[in-house]
Amino acid sequence: MSSSSEVRNRDWYKRMSFYQIWIRSFADGNGDGIGDLYGVYDKLDYIKSLGVDGIWFSPIYPSPNADFGYDISDYKNIHPEYGDLDQFKKVLNRAHELGMKVIMDLVVNHTSDEHPWFIESRKGKDNPYSDYYIWRDKPNNWDSLFEGEAWEYDKIRGQYYLHIFAKKQPDLNMDNPKVREEVKSIMRFWLDMGVDGFREDVINFISKREGLPNGLPFLPAAKGMSHYKDGPHIHEYLAEFRKVCDEYDCFQLGEGPMTTVKSALNYLTGPTKSLDMMFSFDHMMADCFFTEYMHRPFSLVKLKKAFTKWQKALDGKGWNALYIENHDHPRIISRYGSEHHWRESGTMLAVSYLFQQGTPFIYQGQEIGMMNIRLTSIDQYVDVSSKTNYNTYHLKESVEKRLQRIHVSSRDSSRTPMQWDDSPHAGFSTAEPWFFVNSNYKKVNVAAEEKDDDSILNFYRRCIALRKSSDTLIYGKYNEFFPKHKELYIYERVLNNERYLIVCSFSRLPHRMRTPDPYKGKTGELVLCNYSDKPLKDDWLKPYEARVYRY
Ligand code: NOJ
Repeated sequence: MSSSSEVRNRDWYKRMSFYQIWIRSFADGNGDGIGDLYGVYDKLDYIKSLGVDGIWFSPIYPSPNADFGYDISDYKNIHPEYGDLDQFKKVLNRAHELGMKVIMDLVVNHTSDEHPWFIESRKGKDNPYSDYYIWRDKPNNWDSLFEGEAWEYDKIRGQYYLHIFAKKQPDLNMDNPKVREEVKSIMRFWLDMGVDGFREDVINFISKREGLPNGLPFLPAAKGMSHYKDGPHIHEYLAEFRKVCDEYDCFQLGEGPMTTVKSALNYLTGPTKSLDMMFSFDHMMADCFFTEYMHRPFSLVKLKKAFTKWQKALDGKGWNALYIENHDHPRIISRYGSEHHWRESGTMLAVSYLFQQGTPFIYQGQEIGMMNIRLTSIDQYVDVSSKTNYNTYHLKESVEKRLQRIHVSSRDSSRTPMQWDDSPHAGFSTAEPWFFVNSNYKKVNVAAEEKDDDSILNFYRRCIALRKSSDTLIYGKYNEFFPKHKELYIYERVLNNERYLIVCSFSRLPHRMRTPDPYKGKTGELVLCNYSDKPLKDDWLKPYEARVYRY
């Protein structure tokens, strides 16, 4: 254990890249059709081979799976479907032996309604757990983000409880000091075991405004959000959690839905420096408004604006958490790239974000270019928010149109089993998998891509290695060129006398490369390109071409 100030100055996470595991669909080691820690253990060498330095586990705790792990019924255990604590310790130790850190998901805005605290709390006002949740005789007008109104009447207690997400995810009452002690005890439990930090779920929602006043319409289906996003006591509460983390050598990464740079900076640089990094969402809205369900045509200009806003605002002050995929968003090739130009757009999208300033996160399957699944009936989808969206909006449209909306927006698209090889069930399991395997698995799979030097998988490896090899690509300043250009994304990273120029074409047509002024007449060394047959000095970019030059 190191002293607080020593730990605060540590910035080991800045040099790292992380791999995110959504365990249920990663690898099934015990043949029951469900991914588990036995499967993870077997794949640790593969993860290491990507060049990443750490793993983020989406929740692996016991859960009724109303929201696939984000509804936790026991914070200090492992879901029996995924293994047990001993198996987790084996994975943790082996990951450490391989030089990888491990961070856990800390989901404390809400629990499952099957958590013993809630079971006790609903028994009545005299119960010791009575104030662990937010109970009212009359609901206010808030919306939940997943299932209609934010209040559900509980017959046992005879009151309504608040749920910002699904009905089976009651919100904890963080104003209760006992609840905060529970959170700290959960943190210590995992830190004492040796984990290296937390990704903190919707952490900017945990403090609600006193009196829970009615909300104005904020965004579609988010009435009330202004009363719980960055709520009144959030920084005090996070300062308490920060103190726990400071006793260990670990970091805290907050998920900040709808966060702005201004509020993110309060977390990253405010007096309590309560978080080290924050997942922001602006760049995930270049083809939608608020959620993917509110789809609109992709705009590169919007994407670049979001990227650059965060790069500039945090430079020298905070630190970005970089991602373009995770378990909450459909696959990025299907959104910002082109399934038709699968390899080219998949590799280009890697370049578009991996060389920005920040710590990159790569979501399972992203590194092999997995794409959205297309199911034929709403009954085949399992995600609670997809089902609500389907049953709530655009009800006058045809079933085909509504299904198409789900196809482009559902979180289920990124939750299909990992495609390991071209054997039955894509090598994910020997049994029938718990969820549909994408039918493209014969082409898109790890084994095939291992053999192909030009594959998306091997390209990710090259990107990760290049980033790691250069202080400029880690710490350098970011500048963007031609921000209004509708097809090209061009940025540089600069440190001392070294510069990298990163050029990405988002066009399905060949495109004339534009050279920014400071580079005119200079010849850089082409250090990375996603076309192997590229003549070095050609100033025409092929469809979805990406190049990285060093000057
Ligand atoms: C964000 C998580 O990433 C998502 O999967 C979950 O549904 C919500 N928070 C609620 O926990």
